[in-house]
Amino acid sequence: EKGGYDHFMLKEIYEQPRSIRDCMRGRIYPEEGKVQLGGIKEFADKLKNIDRIIIVACGTSWHAGLVGEYLIEEYARIPVEVEYASEFRYRNPIITEKDVVIAISQSGETADTMAAIEMAKEKGATIFGVCNVVGASIPRITHAGVYTHAGPEIGVASTKAFTAQVTVLTLMAFYMAQQKGTISNSKLVELLTELDCIPDKIQVALQSNDIVKAISEKFKDSRNCLFLGRGSGFPVALEGALKLKEISYIHAEGYPAAEMKHGPIALIDEEMPVVVIATKNSSYEKVISNIQEVKARKGVVIAIVTEGDTEVKKMADYCIEIPDSSEAFLPLLATIPLQLLSYHIAVLRGCNVDQPRNLAKSVTVE
Ligand code: M6R
Repeated sequence: EKGGYDHFMLKEIYEQPRSIRDCMRGRIYPEEGKVQLGGIKEFADKLKNIDRIIIVACGTSWHAGLVGEYLIEEYARIPVEVEYASEFRYRNPIITEKDVVIAISQSGETADTMAAIEMAKEKGATIFGVCNVVGASIPRITHAGVYTHAGPEIGVASTKAFTAQVTVLTLMAFYMAQQKGTISNSKLVELLTELDCIPDKIQVALQSNDIVKAISEKFKDSRNCLFLGRGSGFPVALEGALKLKEISYIHAEGYPAAEMKHGPIALIDEEMPVVVIATKNSSYEKVISNIQEVKARKGVVIAIVTEGDTEVKKMADYCIEIPDSSEAFLPLLATIPLQLLSYHIAVLRGCNVDQPRNLAKSVTVE
């Protein structure tokens, strides 16, 4: 049942080229520059005129929401707020009939996310679901939705469900941009052509496994770990930190790289591994100065870099290469080595990878 892998988590990490391909099937037409999302088709006109989107979710799904915010604002130019379902539901938030709420949930059973949906629905908002488990409770109470089709995820730590959520949100951002006319057809042709190749690039990113395993040996006894990223690399940092803490029980924090100097920099010394998303995109130079700040305080830097990078390699203690891509698709690739890192560290520490202590696959109590 684990298909020859030692754990479901590893199997699910390796399934990602396929699960993302499944998620895109019948939804993208790269040559025509067209995205089709049957599940929200009846709301296509409404999407032309919405003022605001609110994304509600918990845990890893909330991290996917942050990537969604970045993409929807960038391409569809619609303001997005990303809320923890548990905070949103108790805050008497301002919601109107004009709002679209996107609820993201792998299981489709998370109690706080369900309650947030019920509340927004009562106030007249349109609710879209992004769920993995077909026919679960959340897809039944939403007005429309797009399934992630990642297949069953058994490991408590979300891996392939996360990348499928990010893929769906990417498709939603492009779909909304297409409806609103905020993206040209030629740009969409270009982006969809690249997206179509992302499963192959994930396959390449998975080849970092051996180097990641070797790095894991060095850091398995760390007590703390910092993850830094900028732009859409920031949610990736948050997700990397969550994976590490939930399955290896190492204290980890994700931070926007520039926020480091507003506090966490005080923690940095030779005992503190700092994982930095330092791929070649718009914030590359800025991230390089953040790495210098860490090195000046004797921190140990593990950098996720673009294939062929030379700059970061001069500074970082360890580098893990991923294929080059547009910034839009960076989260899908940069997440892969971080999943592997948390996996190997947890295995080396003798942790129960698929069933970490105190955690359940779906959190149906608030
Ligand atoms: O099923 P959901 O996506 O609603 O679950 C939300 C969180 O409980 C979940 O993502 C949790 O954080 C995972 N264990 C993360 O790996």
